[in-house]
Amino acid sequence: MNSILDKNLILKGKKVIVRVDLNVPMKNGSITEISRITKILPTLKLLIEKEAKIIILSHIGRPKGKIVSGMSLEPISKKLADLLNIEILFNKNEINEKTLAEINKISNSSVMMMENIRFYEKEEQNDDSFSKKISNLGDIYVNDAFSCSHRAHSSIAGITKYIPSYCGLQFIEEINALKKITSEITKPVTCIIGGSKISTKIKIISNLIKIFDNIIIVGGMGNAMLKNIGINIGKSVCDDGYKNLVGEILKKSKTHNCSIYYPLDVVVSKELNGNGTIKEINEVNDDEMILDIGPKTIASIKNIINNSNTVLWNGPAGYFENPNFANGTKEILDIVSNKRSKNKIYSVAGGGETVAVINKFNKSDSFNFISTAGGAFLEYLEGKELPGIKALS
Ligand code: 3PG
Repeated sequence: MNSILDKNLILKGKKVIVRVDLNVPMKNGSITEISRITKILPTLKLLIEKEAKIIILSHIGRPKGKIVSGMSLEPISKKLADLLNIEILFNKNEINEKTLAEINKISNSSVMMMENIRFYEKEEQNDDSFSKKISNLGDIYVNDAFSCSHRAHSSIAGITKYIPSYCGLQFIEEINALKKITSEITKPVTCIIGGSKISTKIKIISNLIKIFDNIIIVGGMGNAMLKNIGINIGKSVCDDGYKNLVGEILKKSKTHNCSIYYPLDVVVSKELNGNGTIKEINEVNDDEMILDIGPKTIASIKNIINNSNTVLWNGPAGYFENPNFANGTKEILDIVSNKRSKNKIYSVAGGGETVAVINKFNKSDSFNFISTAGGAFLEYLEGKELPGIKALS
């Protein structure tokens, strides 16, 4: 894989397209956690120092090929400009023949950020003509978005067919750390999967069964498990259509000797900003949402972690943004932190929301490595060749 550190790579005056992951948590138009932004600074600073002309491509959210004003990258471009202490030209215009002329006007060491690349439906289709079109914006392509590299999208995979392509500094750091982790983990291995990206993660769980001893499923993922084994989850976050997959997960876990755990009790409320009530899983009413795991579930997780040598964690256990539903996530952090402080566990966490929660509770010391990647982290653990890595290889 070629990297931007390659000695023979001349960057001065070159138009460098940099794909980064600016899919940061936002609330009411404001960024609530900036780790994914700070992580890309070394690559951008290097390109600025080497006098390249930088064109940033990124996404936020899942606008599904439509222009969604709440999913504009503009507020993030302002934050990035502050952190770099430079002006960033934000280009809201559609990418077309005029875009290259606009880019050609920028001077060396300047940065232009394009609007959310997922506003184009061809991005997620990895459409060849779209990949070619975006490749025309630059001379060189750099992927510094390891956390998006499980997506075979134009700005991650397709574009590399058309221009010389390199990986960025954060990408290198993530790959090196994950390579080390996968070669060093010792059993028993417990994987905790939470969060709300059910459609992405449920398929991954099925493949992780072969590798891990225990899989603990909490958060929105836990809701999907409960719903599909016939438990009423009221109006909790959940997607439909995973009955077969959940059945397959439970069946496969027996064949591979992997124990699957999901909530034994929960904390519910009628409102996201409400107070919580602890309930057994069969007591949830139609007008209630499951927003956290209950004390029995926490006790069981504690026991599993205490008997593990490695813990891999992706996705919070509840709606931690409201302190009334943060207890489960906080307790998991405390259990891992406690074992880690005695050097009795190897712990790795990954994912945008997971990083946010770790920082919120000041627990970064509880992990040997924290990846900015969520889905990509899990797929890498599965042993899959990620499309973004393959495209650079
Ligand atoms: C992430 O948050 O894991 C990445 O930004 C990828 O987002 P996606 O799951 O919407 O593709």
